[in-house]
Amino acid sequence: MRLAIYPGTFDPPTRGHLDILDRACKLFDRLIVAIAENPQKAPFFSAKERLNLLQALTREMEKVEVEILKGLVANYAQRKGAVAIIRGMRAVSDFEYEFQMALANRHLNPQVETVFLMPSENYTFLNSTLVKNIAELGGELNPFVPPLVAELIHKKLKGG
Ligand code: COA
Repeated sequence: MRLAIYPGTFDPPTRGHLDILDRACKLFDRLIVAIAENPQKAPFFSAKERLNLLQALTREMEKVEVEILKGLVANYAQRKGAVAIIRGMRAVSDFEYEFQMALANRHLNPQVETVFLMPSENYTFLNSTLVKNIAELGGELNPFVPPLVAELIHKKLKGG
C-alpha cells in the first residue's frame, strides 16, 4: 500500500490542484490531501472550510482522504507512513522554492521522496491568489475552479 501526501494551502483549491491529484491517483494506492493552516498567508477560507470543500470535491475519488496538517510536512508524512510528498511544478519559477523545500524535507525525513508532477498546460499560470483577485473584480471563475468553489467564494465575498 503506497501512500502519498499532497500538502498545500488550497485557499481555495483550483482545477490545477485537482489535476495534480488525478495524476497522483494513477501512481499511488492512497493519497492524503494535507491542508496547511498557514496563518501567515491570512487565508480567505478557514482550514475547516477548506477541509469541507476538498472533501466534497474528492468525494468520488476513492483513494483520497483529506486532513488538516499540523506541524511539519516531513513529520506528518512519517507519522502516516507515506512514501512520497506530491508537489505540483507549474513553471521554472516554482523550481527554486520547491527544490529548497524538497531538500529540507529530505533532511527532516530521509524515508520520504518528493515527487513533482506537472499539471495540464491549461493550469500552469494558475494560483489561488489569482483566483481570489479575479473573483473580487467580478471575473468568471469557472475556467479556474469547480462550480462549488466559485459558489463559496462568491458567498464569502457577499459576507455569507
Ligand atoms: N494549480 C494551481 N495552483 C497551484 C498548484 C496547482 N497545481 N500548485 C500550487 N499552486 C499554488 C497555490 O494555489 C498557492 O497559491 P497562492 O500562493 O496564491 O496561495 C501557491 O501555488 C503555493 O502553493 P502551495 O502548494 O499552497 O504551497 P505553500 O507554499 O502555500 O504551502 C506547504 C506549502 C503546505 C508545504 C508549507 O507552506 C507548509 O505550510 N508546510 C508546513 C510546515 C513545514 O513543513 N514547513 C517546512 C517545509 S520544508
